[in-house]
Amino acid sequence: MNKSTILLICFLVFYISLPVKAEEKKIQKRIVNGKIITDTKGNAINAHGGGFLKIGDYYYWIGENRKNGIFVSCYRSKDLINWEFRGDLLTRQSHQELDRANIERPKIIYNEKTKKFVMWMHYEYGRDYSYARAAVAISDNIEKPFTYLKSFRPFGNMSRDCTLYKDNDGTAYFFSSARENYDMMLYRLTDDYQDTKEQLATLWPGGHREAPALVKRGDYYFLITSGCTGWAPNQAKYAYSKSITGPWSDLINLGDETTYNSQSTYIIPLEGKKSTSYLYVGDRWDGNQYFNSTYVFLPLLFKSETGLYLNWTPELLPLVLDGELFTFNQ
Ligand code: GAL
Repeated sequence: MNKSTILLICFLVFYISLPVKAEEKKIQKRIVNGKIITDTKGNAINAHGGGFLKIGDYYYWIGENRKNGIFVSCYRSKDLINWEFRGDLLTRQSHQELDRANIERPKIIYNEKTKKFVMWMHYEYGRDYSYARAAVAISDNIEKPFTYLKSFRPFGNMSRDCTLYKDNDGTAYFFSSARENYDMMLYRLTDDYQDTKEQLATLWPGGHREAPALVKRGDYYFLITSGCTGWAPNQAKYAYSKSITGPWSDLINLGDETTYNSQSTYIIPLEGKKSTSYLYVGDRWDGNQYFNSTYVFLPLLFKSETGLYLNWTPELLPLVLDGELFTFNQ
């Protein structure tokens, strides 16, 4: 073989292997906690204070983007590991009221009657947190820009950290921190999910809880909340109740004293044909460099009907049973 043939072969081998390597690099096999994670195009995922929704085979992740006037972005994934960016749902241009706004903790549910996706979020105007309002936006498509409707204080109450919950019977609820975060309020939404219909309960009055995340398992609702220390992590606590309006149990410690350096944002049910497992999702905030904030995904373990546990693990590997994502390792 002469020199130029060898060179040609080397070039061809290099050329052929290039796209394969690039493709391989994009497929991720595990969830890595507390590190910047990237979408399928290699861009950092900005979906902080996020919410999740399963539609068909896809898990949708929507959350705070905050870059370039984008408030809320949308990603989707079949395995909760490889996330495809699908679009920006709310930007500074979406509505006049958003020109100097700050949007936090967006959550989305689907309304079967109106066939609309409804987003609720924490709305602030300007730099401080004095507006303390809830805001609502709707869309026919979870991947397409939402129409911003309004911001308001439910029943005149302040409304900061918040979450949405849609129950099996289609009734939807909104939890939010009121009275300078001293009280966790619970509201029932109107049938179209676009307003609050009734103020149902004040959970742990004076308890100073925020970052609510709710899930139902068996006969019980479980609500995870954090304490109020701004961007700094603190001890998460959970409570359980047979009725969403209470009486709720006392607050019980979950995880370690910093919740493994995270603050709750959502609980994802992994609904299998035979059983369901649950994944805690938290934000590891960097209050000084917001875009260094990362995510923490951890299996939520039930050791009894009401005994909830959260253990640290730096990485999660998916366990697939009968072709469906069943749970993640511990
Ligand atoms: C946290 C809250 C975040 C953000 C932050 C601002 O307590 O959960 O969503 O509002 O305070 O300091």
